[in-house]
Amino acid sequence: MEIHIVTDAAEGAQAVADVFARTLRETAGDGTVLGLATGSSPVPAYTELIRRHREEGLSFAGARAFLLDEYVGLPAGHEQSYHRFIRENFTSHIDIEDAAVLSPDGAAADPTAEAAAYDRRIGEAGGVDLQILGIGSNGHIAFNEPGSSLASRTRVVGLTRRTIADNARFFENAEDVPVRALSQGLGTIRDARRIVLTATGEGKAEAVAQLAEGAISARWPATSLQLHPDVTVVVDEAAASRLELADYYRYARSLEQTGTVAAHS
Ligand code: GLP
Repeated sequence: MEIHIVTDAAEGAQAVADVFARTLRETAGDGTVLGLATGSSPVPAYTELIRRHREEGLSFAGARAFLLDEYVGLPAGHEQSYHRFIRENFTSHIDIEDAAVLSPDGAAADPTAEAAAYDRRIGEAGGVDLQILGIGSNGHIAFNEPGSSLASRTRVVGLTRRTIADNARFFENAEDVPVRALSQGLGTIRDARRIVLTATGEGKAEAVAQLAEGAISARWPATSLQLHPDVTVVVDEAAASRLELADYYRYARSLEQTGTVAAHS
């Protein structure tokens, strides 16, 4: 796991966008498959990617995308659906076909069957080349709440009270927040060939410390990413504030970038 501690959201957005650009370059012509996340954390990176598309010609032509999750009960057109969120914040501003941006159908009559079909569709597309992730304050990724099997696949999950409270800010009333979601599983997410996770702010500090340095456990679902060989974690100083090995990560990064040993404690 490569930990990249940045000074602000703008530097973080550059770092995440660089991982996208590298993956698009490496998979050019092969129909890149992107794994997209909602939530506020990835938005600065999406904004930077839109800028690079408009100003620097970064192209997503031929790419396909799979969203991580969707609320059960919200139809695609609902203003709080993740289907809509990703279009408004990212995909309708770049050159990816709208029909190539897929998400689980929150309004499916049989959500369990929809979950299994969605998992299969990702495999049939050849798997995800790059998955972007945020992290919940309780260590969830997508909607894999504490207690999720580390081998879980896409399924229907119940949201914790804490997640419902965290997400209530997007809804008019807390009672309007759906209590279940369709979510890619931890095993599904780890099938992606490359992962970039981004987090900012003190509220994520404990989850980030567990993610990078905690014991692998269903208690903190993001720790399952320690088993993946290609994960970059982009965090600001506040989100990094509980990392015991922060100085080492800074040192390792400067060593990798400059080939020289920077001062560190
Ligand atoms: C939701 C999403 C997650 C996201 C998390 C954090 O629960 N299902 O994918 O990572 O929120 O959101 P934010 O980035 O807004 O803090």
